[in-house]
Order: sequence, then C-alpha cells, then structure tokens
Amino acid sequence: MMDWESLERTCLGCTRCGLCETRHNVAFGVGPRDADVMFVGEGPGEQEDLKGEPFVGAAGHLLDDMLSIIDLGRENCYIANIVKCRPPRNRDPLETEQDACIDYLRNQVALVRPKIIVCLGRVAAKRLIDPDFRITREHGTWVRKNGVWMSAMYHPSALLRDVSKRPETFDDLLSLREKIRETGARI
Ligand code: URA
Repeated sequence: MMDWESLERTCLGCTRCGLCETRHNVAFGVGPRDADVMFVGEGPGEQEDLKGEPFVGAAGHLLDDMLSIIDLGRENCYIANIVKCRPPRNRDPLETEQDACIDYLRNQVALVRPKIIVCLGRVAAKRLIDPDFRITREHGTWVRKNGVWMSAMYHPSALLRDVSKRPETFDDLLSLREKIRETGARI
C-alpha cells in the first residue's frame, strides 16, 4: 500500500494500460482524504479528461443536484472512478483496463477508510459489489463488505438519458441519507 503522495504520483504517471496513450489528464480522485462517504463512477468522460477531475461534466452537475437533495455537499465526499483515464468515445472500460487500474482505487479506499461507498452505475457495482450485480434490480440495496456499507445507484449519465429512472434514484438517495444517519457518517 502506498501513501497519498506516492499513490498520486504513480497514478499520474501510469502506463499500465492503453488508455494512457489517449488521455489528456489522469482523473485521480477528489475530495477530503478522510471522507466518510465515497462515490465511485466508471471512468472519466471528456470534461473529466480535460480537467483531470472526476464528475465535472454534465453527469457531475446532475450528481451535485442529486447530493443536494439530501443535503450532502460534494466537497464533503471523496469521489473517484474505477478507471482513472478516459476510455475513447466514453466506451465502457475494458476488463483488462479495469484490472490494470483497480489497485489504485483499492489503495484510495484503504487510505480514506470510508464508512459508506456508493457505486454510480453498473460498471462500478459489478466491480466493487458483485460480478453478477444487476443494477435495475439491485440498486438501492445495501451490503456490508470489510466493514464498509456498500450500495449502487443508477449512473447520473443514465439518468440524463432516461428520466423515468429518477424516482427510483430519489428513493435510493433517501436510503443513503438513512444510512448516513445510522452510521453517524460525517457529511
Ligand atoms: N462518468 C463517470 O463514470 N465518471 C466521471 O468522472 C464522469 C462521468
């Protein structure tokens, strides 16, 4: 396990997979490094690649709006992705790319030691909760893994494409608020 400084330095210079050839910036992660609540998306999009920060584009704005519904400021959460470099044309990150990158996220989780991790979308949920995770059926459910409460919501990009999923996400947000209360997580 690396400390924050070595981890970030290693990640910013990473060439473990082909995504390093097309990236502009590595979107390492953002937020307080001792946050109790952590969000994990899939991978940087165009804006994130340009800025080197997760969830700063359209999906990020919707994420901010979602969090504000339960009085959760993004500045109080740690936000990262399964892969740190943008997949071309925003395709899903390949299994091999996820494999190459996942140790950075595991190291981030080990350093942050969050009480709660919320996966944003199917890719993160399959990788972190269960390889057979079905987002349509299992979003909003909670499991405890290694002392951390874990759940998944629809990805904000999916909610931008399909507004009919928004009411279910509202319920998931309320359930997150309840879990924050229950665990005494600082937000
Ligand atoms: N989508 C993601 O999964 N992550 C980001 O950082 C931005 C969009």
